[in-house]
Amino acid sequence: ETIYVGVDIGGTAIKVGICSAKGDLLHTFEGPTGTEQGTQKILANIAGYARRIVEESPYDWEQVAGVGIGIAGFIDMAKGFIKFSPNLPLDNVPLKDILEAELNKKVRVNNDANVAALGEAWGGAGRGVHSCVLYTLGTGVGGGIVVNGRLIEGFSGMGGELGHMSIVPDLEAIQCGCGKMGCLETVSSATGIIRMAHDAVSRGDRTTLADVENIMAKEVFDAAKNGDEVAQRIVSRAAYYIGKSMATVAVVVNPQRFIIGGGVSKAGEFLFEQIRTVFHKYALDKAQEGVDIVAAELGNNAGVVGAAGLLLDA
Ligand code: BGC
Ligand code: NA
Ligand code: ZN
Repeated sequence: ETIYVGVDIGGTAIKVGICSAKGDLLHTFEGPTGTEQGTQKILANIAGYARRIVEESPYDWEQVAGVGIGIAGFIDMAKGFIKFSPNLPLDNVPLKDILEAELNKKVRVNNDANVAALGEAWGGAGRGVHSCVLYTLGTGVGGGIVVNGRLIEGFSGMGGELGHMSIVPDLEAIQCGCGKMGCLETVSSATGIIRMAHDAVSRGDRTTLADVENIMAKEVFDAAKNGDEVAQRIVSRAAYYIGKSMATVAVVVNPQRFIIGGGVSKAGEFLFEQIRTVFHKYALDKAQEGVDIVAAELGNNAGVVGAAGLLLDA
């Protein structure tokens, strides 16, 4: 039996999984990324965890058809080269070449949200639909576009970088980690939500939000659910820009389904209802007929499953 190893590299943890050719997740392993210890340590961890998960499973290294990797950042997919990574010290790293030499296996590298979208399309909320667009709402806002089972990577790998859609009007825009002004990520990520909470408290707005130094996005959602008007305004602003961006994506890609994942999506229907309302208000009627907005299904595992799936293409 041939197996596929998928690796999902985040800022704090690296998740590894073994998948069957059918996309069933057979084994998982998780270890620290080692971000503070620098580039070499992260690279050693990726290779080490990939070997270790196979060693600890009933399978042998000979059965591994290849290793697929999803990582937050701008990737040259053909070369498997990391051009820029906002949260990891892996800028300008030829990850595919390094790991192929180290592991002696075929390696494929792609963006974290792209592989999560593939995972959802393969065995999650995007199963059986013509096309789906995934938004991951976490530290950043990630995006992944899958049409007829294929990822839209674009000319230079930036296809699906939905978090950097410039959407906030100039007068309200702030600078994004990518350097540009008004990106979706500046308002609709967990980071953006937390920043808006800080701003509200330092302006002296009347709110129940407390311990704002260490606040998490979840607390803003909880306060909003409990009737805090400041928190409600923050949530509706985050939702507004997601919904509005979906209205744009609807006439560019015309996907059948929008899927929302990432830590922030745990806010659930409270958030989704607001996003749907904005989407329905602004999206072209004929581009929203038969289109739905749903929660991701694979949660934490979408990344490893989708990363393993990169090898099926190869
Ligand atoms: C990065 C994307 C990534 C997303 C989610 C963004 O800041 O630019 O490449 O997919 O965060 O991790
Ligand atoms: Na992407
Ligand atoms: Zn940006």
